[in-house]
Parts: sequence; C-alpha cells; structure tokens
Amino acid sequence: MLTLADHILDITENSVRAGAKFIEISIEEDTAQDLLAIEIKDDGHGMSEDVLQKVLDPFYTTKTVRRVGLGLPLLRDAAERAQGHFFLKSQQNSGTQVKATFGLGHLDRQPLGALINTIIILIISNSQVDFFYKHRHNDRRFELDTREIRKEIEDIPINHPEIIKYIRAAMEEGLRDIESEA
Ligand SMILES: Nc1ncnc2c1ncn2[C@@H]1O[C@H](COP(=O)(O)OP(=O)(O)OP(=O)(O)O)[C@@H](O)[C@H]1O
Ligand SMILES: [Mg+2]
Repeated sequence: MLTLADHILDITENSVRAGAKFIEISIEEDTAQDLLAIEIKDDGHGMSEDVLQKVLDPFYTTKTVRRVGLGLPLLRDAAERAQGHFFLKSQQNSGTQVKATFGLGHLDRQPLGALINTIIILIISNSQVDFFYKHRHNDRRFELDTREIRKEIEDIPINHPEIIKYIRAAMEEGLRDIESEA
C-alpha cells in the first residue's frame, strides 16, 4: 500500500527533475480540525499552461523512459478518497506548489509511512538541493533546514555519513517530541 511518505518522495523528485535548488516540504496534523495537509513547494522551472492542463491525466508525462505519469494523479486520488482536496499551482520559470489535504481520522487516509527515511534519501541523493522540512502536530512544531545545517558544517558535504547520522537523530527526536501529548 502507498503511504504519504511515498507520495512525498515522488512529488519531491518531480521538483528535483524541474531543476529546483530549494524545496519546502510541509506537513500539518490538526486533530481539532481533523485535518492533515501536505505541501511541497519548489523553485524549479515550473509548468507551462499546456503541461498544467494535462498533468492530472494519469497518462501524461514529460519523461522519455516511461510514458505514464502517475505521481500527481495518485496523490489527488489519495486526498479525495480521504475527504480531502488537491491543489496544484505552477508558473513557468518561477516554481510549483503542490498541496493535498486529508481527513486526518478518515478510514481511507493513507498512513504517514517512513517519513524520516524519505527525507534522508532525498537529502543524500540530491546534495546540491536545499530542503526545508516543517512538521506541525497541533501546536507543536519541528523544522529542519539544510541551509542552516550547511552554515554549521562549512565545507563538510551535507551527505557525509556523520551529518546524515546527525540529521536522522534530530528528526527522530523532533518528530517524537511533536507527536507526544503535552
Ligand atoms: N514540480 C514540478 N515542476 C515542473 N514540472 C512538473 C513538476 N511536477 C510535475 N511536473 C510535470 O508533470 C508531469 C507529470 O508528473 P507526475 O509526477 O504525475 O508523473 P511523472 O513524474 O512524469 O511520472 P511518475 O511520477 O509516475 O514517475 C511531469 O512529467 C512533469 O512534466
Ligand atoms: Mg513524478
């Protein structure tokens, strides 16, 4: 079964393919509003009006290796099956914003899945890209910004095993903190 982390990986890989240098990934869980929102924003080359029109058709892709584009339609279906909505905003030469909402407690809402591994994979395999990960659980927040980490580590590469170990530990602790009830 697909998890929301799988969708995040796919949508963020689209951003990387679009040449993004900075990608914001935001997750908001709100129990009182029974709402889960996921948003991915990039500064890549964006989509033309023409691509934007076609992109929610599950057979449209600009890839040449495989001619079926599924990432965006699958996320839209996942949102709509859990009483949520899907938003896509994109402008050529300025970037793309993808947002999906879900009924947090809806029976068909896909689980978050392996979020930490997903973010780690994205950072390791795209070390030229900066990621800003924001996660809110009710009134608690966790943020991880590779731009800030780069300032601290100076000329050590962001995908150095020791740095990755640090990022994983920070995410494990941070996500545990925001999920725990006060
Ligand atoms: N962030 C983005 N910036 C620019 N273009 C994008 C972005 N996201 C998607 N697109 C365009 O939309 C098309 C469809 O994206 P989608 O994720 O649905 O399928 P895909 O990436 O082509 O294939 P798949 O995700 O199934 O491997 C892409 O081929 C690309 O042309
Ligand atoms: Mg894709």
